[in-house]
Amino acid sequence: MTSIPLFDTASNLNGLRPDLDAAIKRVMDSGRYILGPEVAAFESEFAEYVGTEHAIGVGNGTDALSIALRAAGVEPGDDVVVPSFTFYASAEAAITTGANVVYCDVDPDTMNVTAETVAAALTPNTTAVVAVHLFGLPAPVPELRKLADERGFKIVEDAAQAVGATLGGVRAGALGDVATFSFFPSKNLGAFGDAGIITTNDPEIAETARLLRHHGTTNKQLHTLVGYNSRLDAMQAALLRVLLPHIDAWNGGRQLAALAYAEAGIAEFATPQLVPEGSKSVYHLYVVSVDDPAGISAALDEQGVEARSYYRTPIHRQPATEQEIDLPGTELAAARNLALPMSPTIREDQVAAVVRALASARAAA
Ligand SMILES: Cc1ncc(COP(=O)(O)O)c(C=O)c1O
Repeated sequence: MTSIPLFDTASNLNGLRPDLDAAIKRVMDSGRYILGPEVAAFESEFAEYVGTEHAIGVGNGTDALSIALRAAGVEPGDDVVVPSFTFYASAEAAITTGANVVYCDVDPDTMNVTAETVAAALTPNTTAVVAVHLFGLPAPVPELRKLADERGFKIVEDAAQAVGATLGGVRAGALGDVATFSFFPSKNLGAFGDAGIITTNDPEIAETARLLRHHGTTNKQLHTLVGYNSRLDAMQAALLRVLLPHIDAWNGGRQLAALAYAEAGIAEFATPQLVPEGSKSVYHLYVVSVDDPAGISAALDEQGVEARSYYRTPIHRQPATEQEIDLPGTELAAARNLALPMSPTIREDQVAAVVRALASARAAA
């Protein structure tokens, strides 16, 4: 039996080895391992790709979010709205700034926040809202913008899963006041270790983020802020420079696979994450809703198809961050989601095989 993995991070790299090896050699020969010209070059190439004035390379996507929140003006004791149905780091990063996280609900169809769920979580002390583009689908930032203008909070995009996704033709990372990305190896644009970046059009946010990532100093003599040691390594930057020109083609492969799922009749057996008009997902994960995802994934496993539910315990019910609140959309998404195999190189016949396996798992349920 052939097996179809949930994702395939290695096959993208076929053919790129000589360029990756050359990038490693270049950095080793340069002796510049932290920040330096490779990081500056990647920052400007990534800013151009996203469509922002500034990009600031940092150690990982979690630090990117903490630094972005602080650079956007969040102070200890402020309220920051974060969806509960996301990776734990989206909230953890806010908590480590000293802010109080107020969890908001998601729409179980898009699995993203909405203007209504955010509005319900706002308080007089809300200074930022973290809009997570979950599974590669942009959150409705333009709708949040109206609220932000009325209520005076900053929109921080958590675009960790959404490099290259667009809403109204604007790329994730250029929609909010500031945005953060992760290049964790399994992400659509994955480095060879931990790495992250912050994008913004706001020169003050950019300058503060640059200070915060480097102990609050520009020269290691005068420290004007208490910051972090969270800089992008030159090696990761040099390798990411090799990968960045390919991201649109890889995302295109994922989008074709999503189309193949639709054409193979996935909707008869499961409900795919709803992509609203005007949005383009980059399908970091291809996620559907089903009854009994645990039973279905066990049945798929027997047929050689790997599937996994994400964030089954939402953040407001995690032991470290528990809050007594009622988030019905979150509970539904947590209880029903199932990610099916997705990668830039998954073939149409593999997608059809996944849908056949799902059909027989459903019939047996
Ligand atoms: C939505 C989301 N936010 C934040 C992060 C944190 O990124 P990192 O692992 O690079 O710290 C991740 C990924 O791990 C993520 O998926």
